[in-house]
Amino acid sequence: MHKELGRGANGIVYLVEHRGQTLALKVGQDLFSLTSEVNVLKHFQKAQGRVLGPSLYDVDDWHSPDGVRPFYVMNVIKGVPLIRFVKERGEDWLPVLVLQLLGFLEQLHQEGWVFGDLKPEHLLVTGKPPRLAWFDAGGVTRMGWAIKEYTELYDRGCWGMGDRKAESSYDLFSVALIVMHIVRGKPLTAGNDPARTLKQALEETQGLFPYRHVLWRALSGRYRSAQKMREDWLLAWQARQETGQKKGRPAGGAISAQRHQAPRKKRSLLWKLGKVISFLFISSFLIFLFALYLFYQAL
Ligand SMILES: Nc1ncnc2c1ncn2[C@@H]1O[C@H](COP(=O)(O)OP(=O)(O)O)[C@@H](O)[C@H]1O
Ligand SMILES: [Mg+2]
Repeated sequence: MHKELGRGANGIVYLVEHRGQTLALKVGQDLFSLTSEVNVLKHFQKAQGRVLGPSLYDVDDWHSPDGVRPFYVMNVIKGVPLIRFVKERGEDWLPVLVLQLLGFLEQLHQEGWVFGDLKPEHLLVTGKPPRLAWFDAGGVTRMGWAIKEYTELYDRGCWGMGDRKAESSYDLFSVALIVMHIVRGKPLTAGNDPARTLKQALEETQGLFPYRHVLWRALSGRYRSAQKMREDWLLAWQARQETGQKKGRPAGGAISAQRHQAPRKKRSLLWKLGKVISFLFISSFLIFLFALYLFYQAL
């Protein structure tokens, strides 16, 4: 066994070498939850979407000194955690990655599953061009059942904004909070009046402003599908780009006008200089002629 890749509430994931292949091995605490996770991964094996997730290689038990520990082996997903990626590459990447996430969720929901434990730690960005990938099938729940795993900060139940029934809107609430966490640079905590906390954060955070209506709809459970939220997100993004360009226009315009004026300024200066020189030349020529005339008069 090699390096530890990460750990969560249910298991530890190690980097392992097996027959020349580098793989990820997840050792669980509990046979029941690991088995249900494996079943979800087996199901996804058949239907891998555009968004990358772990692929199952093998399942077994480890007879450790402390008892039997279930484990499974999957591919290693290399990449940069979502929060770090946006911090390093810029916030302009966020809308694109949110569109990918909503596309993935739409597909998952269509297949009858809800992600459940959606949070920044379970999302990373991989490859070129950058693509979103996810970890941890532990929270993935059948539509209509009770969400089995969740993290308080991103769970609408803890926020008092809905129940823990597995439905599309459950995941979309988490998406909104993930976006808010990334843009604000820190997770949001509910406080005494969660709905007010959320509204206030949407209104006060500049980076969230273009998306505030979409995010509020997601937070208040008004989206029936990830696809609808995706469409609204796309519109908000486009509107932001247009107003951004309009706002940018005076500055951009000024810069380009300056660029065009600069040679014109030079030209007009030369022209003025030329005018002065020719004026001097003509007047000295006239003076010369006048002097010549006086000279002949004097003879
Ligand atoms: N296939 C993988 N490749 C690389 N890192 C992984 C992989 N699976 C999990 N990890 C890392 O390990 C952490 C814990 O795994 P996770 O499945 O979330 O465990 P838990 O069910 O205990 O929350 C993840 O957040 C991620 O950083
Ligand atoms: Mg986890």
